[in-house]
Amino acid sequence: MQILSRRPIVAGNWKMNGNKSLVSLLEDKLAHEDLSHLDVVICPPFPYLGLFGDTVSLGAQNMSMHDSGAHTGEVSASMLQETGCSYVILGHSERRADHAETNEIVALKVEKALAAGLTPILCVGETEEIRDGGNLFAFLAEQIDAVEQQIGILQFAHIVLAYEPIWAIGTGKTASPEQAQEVHQFLREHLAKKNSDIATKINILYGGSVKGSNAKELFSQQDVDGGLIGGASLNPEDFLSICLAAKQ
Ligand code: PGA
Repeated sequence: MQILSRRPIVAGNWKMNGNKSLVSLLEDKLAHEDLSHLDVVICPPFPYLGLFGDTVSLGAQNMSMHDSGAHTGEVSASMLQETGCSYVILGHSERRADHAETNEIVALKVEKALAAGLTPILCVGETEEIRDGGNLFAFLAEQIDAVEQQIGILQFAHIVLAYEPIWAIGTGKTASPEQAQEVHQFLREHLAKKNSDIATKINILYGGSVKGSNAKELFSQQDVDGGLIGGASLNPEDFLSICLAAKQ
């Protein structure tokens, strides 16, 4: 398992999109570039995980909180690990909203992922209402603390955080670089109260309408260590320019 060092990460979250031909189009596009300064992660739907070569690191978009058993339609952490995944996105707002994933469920999944040697990409983020109501930081702290209570702060050395404001996901309405930096700094300071070494080393990705045209500005912020990319990860050209925008 990776001990994180803030080497930039750009992760593409295909959601329920893409097809077999996108796998090869994307691999061809990335194969000719020197992307050794970052970790490029693709999180396609489960059926496509086995189709990727070694141009990219692989991640899943979700996994079960159970190890095995009568859970029709579910996929376990060890299955993902065996399939070649090194990452798994957990707590994405679409899973929290559409599949009733509470902070407690997300925390259990993070624990299972770590036990299987996967690096969780733990997503946190607020709605516009929460932000406008002045509850932004308390809300985010609660999302983080639920996981910390389950696994302990030291395990955060093996986690990647992703700040994904819900109002910016798939809306074309990106957080400004200043808004992203303000929250990333808050998240780092919040963790620093528990362990300053881990807070300094943890990768915090920004997600929410990142494109080739805005990636550089977002990634140039001090506490932004890369991105979690939805829509733009389906366009190999745009995804490549986002990867190239990651800090060296
Ligand atoms: P988006 O999605 O880039 O399409 O806004 C980001 C995400 O949901 O991870």
